[in-house]
Amino acid sequence: MKRELIVAIDGPSGSGKSTLSRLLAAALNYINIDTGAMYRSVGLAAHRGAIDPADTQALAELCARLTIEFVRNGAVERVLLNGEDVSEAIRTPEMSLMASRVSACLAVRDAMGRLQREMGNRGGVVLEGRDIGTVVFPQAEVKFFLLASAAERGRRRFEELRAKGLQVDLQQTIAEVEQRDAADCNRQHAPLLQADDALAIDTTTMTIEQVLQEMLVIVNKRRLQGCEA
Ligand code: DC
Repeated sequence: MKRELIVAIDGPSGSGKSTLSRLLAAALNYINIDTGAMYRSVGLAAHRGAIDPADTQALAELCARLTIEFVRNGAVERVLLNGEDVSEAIRTPEMSLMASRVSACLAVRDAMGRLQREMGNRGGVVLEGRDIGTVVFPQAEVKFFLLASAAERGRRRFEELRAKGLQVDLQQTIAEVEQRDAADCNRQHAPLLQADDALAIDTTTMTIEQVLQEMLVIVNKRRLQGCEA
């Protein structure tokens, strides 16, 4: 039986993953899975439950009781944590840091990885994150690794936060992005890593449209070959 592709997009924060994953999924009529939003949701649940992100036992128990779902209302994608819409609440700088901290816990990674495989294993999906092409779906038919300079990624994040009306400082945002990258790259479990068979795209000086077109050429070429379920 034939199935549609599994597309993995990995890379550091601010490399354009979220925007491109959403646009690519829409262009292909695939499901978009923002795995960072899942770690952010765990981070929010831990924060609300006053759980120390270093307490692996408490985090494992937390993951065993929570539910995370993605729902789409037209073009708008929402994240539900235990049925509550947390799409905005998970996007603060505080939750970025919290997500990075809880994502270093193996029990959290196992729980999220299991959920991601359940969501994606039938194909017709674009998953974006840090370890999709290396750990969650090493067998993904297409793997991208997006890059951009730290200054440009910090600037994008700064604009994004400012557009939401948050009071932020550019230099501090760049420093936070670098700090989070270092934590994501140096952690023991599933660090941010480019898979050997991933195609790297440096988006520093490219427009979103240019990156999207480059990705579409590659995905559509692979799609023509088809794949077995
Ligand atoms: O992509 P993001 O900024 O929303 O991700 C938030 C954090 O979650 C990030 O600092 C690292 C972690 N993460 C991860 O460890 N593995 C993933 N597949 C996705 C995100």
